[in-house]
Amino acid sequence: MHSNFSKFLDALQSRNRGSFPIWLMRQAGRYLPEYRALREKHSLRDLFFTPKLAAEITLMPIERFGLDAAILFSDITAIAPAMGFSLDFQEGPKVSLNPTSQKLYTVKEDLSQFEPIQEAIGYIKQKSRLPLIGFCGAPFTIATYFMPNWKEVPQEIFIQFLDQIAHYCIFFLKKQIEAGVDAIQIFDSWANLLENREFEIYSLQYIQKIIQSIDVPSIVFMRGSSKNAEKIAQLNPSAISLDWEIPIHEVRKKVSLPLQGNLDPELLFLRPCEIRKKVRFIFDEMKGDPGLIVNLGHGILPNTPLESVYTLIDEIRKMG
Ligand code: CP3
Repeated sequence: MHSNFSKFLDALQSRNRGSFPIWLMRQAGRYLPEYRALREKHSLRDLFFTPKLAAEITLMPIERFGLDAAILFSDITAIAPAMGFSLDFQEGPKVSLNPTSQKLYTVKEDLSQFEPIQEAIGYIKQKSRLPLIGFCGAPFTIATYFMPNWKEVPQEIFIQFLDQIAHYCIFFLKKQIEAGVDAIQIFDSWANLLENREFEIYSLQYIQKIIQSIDVPSIVFMRGSSKNAEKIAQLNPSAISLDWEIPIHEVRKKVSLPLQGNLDPELLFLRPCEIRKKVRFIFDEMKGDPGLIVNLGHGILPNTPLESVYTLIDEIRKMG
């Protein structure tokens, strides 16, 4: 039987049959009124680290839309407390540390900070049989938040910091896998800031290390992923999550791995009939593709109309 459970995981093995699976990056977030209602009553930190709340939010978009995978409600900066840094969200995540001080490497780690996240995964798995995606940020993208002045930091120190972050990323993922996630996604959202050798050593090298350290299917996302798809494919992930810079059928000519993406998030601000037309135009080119997962090319925008999301999902379901 081709159950909902296997549809997403099958696509990660290039075994699509019938319609394409669909989920949306940042699907649990501010465009959902039920999320905003809960957010009014709690701080972001509480939402991320209270197991029942994190589980409830993870399942909000599933209950509303019937997507093919859930993604854990957490954040790439959620590793900060385990690393011994304080984490505060005010206009985006802020981490307290002194980036040029050697103290960076002697802060006291506290791995018990991952326990509420593991507990949240346990609740989600109890309540839903859908595949659950765990995730981490890639070290470079996390570093841009933890060390905003990274460009001024001596390269040697920066690399030590990236190594240290990579260690916690792998630990974070292993804890998520132990608790029951079925696949993971690595977000290197800011990798597009890097070029040539810096791209290799700050971004690709660490992504490869993370992929090699875990034993569930892995998806790699970055801004610039469609342009760099062949390089990312060499790291041997299970799939590449594409931005919309290059049409997906063009990327498919160069890469045989499963592909995820790659709709422009702004598409969801068009009228329903326009959304349907564009979605058909893009994915008709991929008809019969064995390894396609429909998604956006970056996170869903906070003021996206709900009706657009219903329309998108309906159109994809009709294509099968
Ligand atoms: O639904 C999901 O996708 C799961 C949850 C999730 C969040 N963050 C929740 C969140 C995921 C996968 C992330 C990843 C993340 N976090 C990335 C990589 C993906 C990307 O968008 O590029 C990055 C770069 C971050 C860092 C981050 N977290 C920023 C810059 C911000 C503030 C700006 C913003 O988008 O709101 C956050 C906060 C955050 N993380 C929110 C959510 C739902 C906003 C919550 C709120 O304000 O209520």
